[in-house]
Amino acid sequence: MQLKVENLKVSYGNIKALHGISFTVDQGEILTIIGANGAGKSTTLRAISRMVPSESGSVLEFNNENILKYSADKVVSKLGISHVPEGRRIFGNLTVTENLDLACFARKDRGQIEKDKKWVFDLFTRLEERKDQLAGTLSGGEQQMLAVGRAYMSGHKIMLLDEPSMGLAPLLMLDMFKALKEINKQGTTILLVEQNARLALKFAQRGYVIENGSLVLEGPAEQLLDDPQVKKAYLGA
Ligand SMILES: Nc1ncnc2c1ncn2[C@@H]1O[C@H](COP(=O)(O)OP(=O)(O)OP(=O)(O)O)[C@@H](O)[C@H]1O
Ligand SMILES: [Mg+2]
Repeated sequence: MQLKVENLKVSYGNIKALHGISFTVDQGEILTIIGANGAGKSTTLRAISRMVPSESGSVLEFNNENILKYSADKVVSKLGISHVPEGRRIFGNLTVTENLDLACFARKDRGQIEKDKKWVFDLFTRLEERKDQLAGTLSGGEQQMLAVGRAYMSGHKIMLLDEPSMGLAPLLMLDMFKALKEINKQGTTILLVEQNARLALKFAQRGYVIENGSLVLEGPAEQLLDDPQVKKAYLGA
């Protein structure tokens, strides 16, 4: 087990977003959490990244280290947990290359950084062609590639992905998931949250279903794709 989440509770003021969820992710695995609007998917990723506080009693561990001892920036630079947030959050007034360089500011391994950048440009050749372009002028799909590339550059033991399919045309969506598979193949664990349940379950090995801040189902992805409850609620069948 690489990531352990136990009894995770998060509230925003009086609104309870997560009611004590528990799950684990194995090293090298692709795990997905699917759910509807407002179910708590983004909150789960934000809690792991320490972007929102977890309530007492929550347990978050990465390779047996207590994540709660780390600040949001150290979660990335020391633990290697990267996060592709909802809405991409790239720097529009900086170039593609500057966005990638900024992601590495806390890294000391200069030689490896150049190799990683080359790897990202080989993976997303469109980004390489546009490396001196201002990120704000990239298309939505290209911005999503940059968001993933930037996360990869910041650290890549595990990547937390918040709806990477959002706003992408079907073909580009498939390209994006192919790229994510490549990232996984070279050793990065993937925790993906998605509203697009079919896509997510075809991509992942294992999945959980989140409803109103609680995990309600768990299983191998193929099994969930076949589950009558999942089909009815999430697959439009
Ligand atoms: N900053 C915030 N302040 C107050 N409430 C919030 C905040 N962020 C999220 N919430 C609430 O927490 C709950 C879970 O939200 P979250 O963003 O985790 O859902 P989600 O599953 O990612 O939804 P979506 O698919 O729409 O992105 C929702 O009820 C939402 O309104
Ligand atoms: Mg969300």
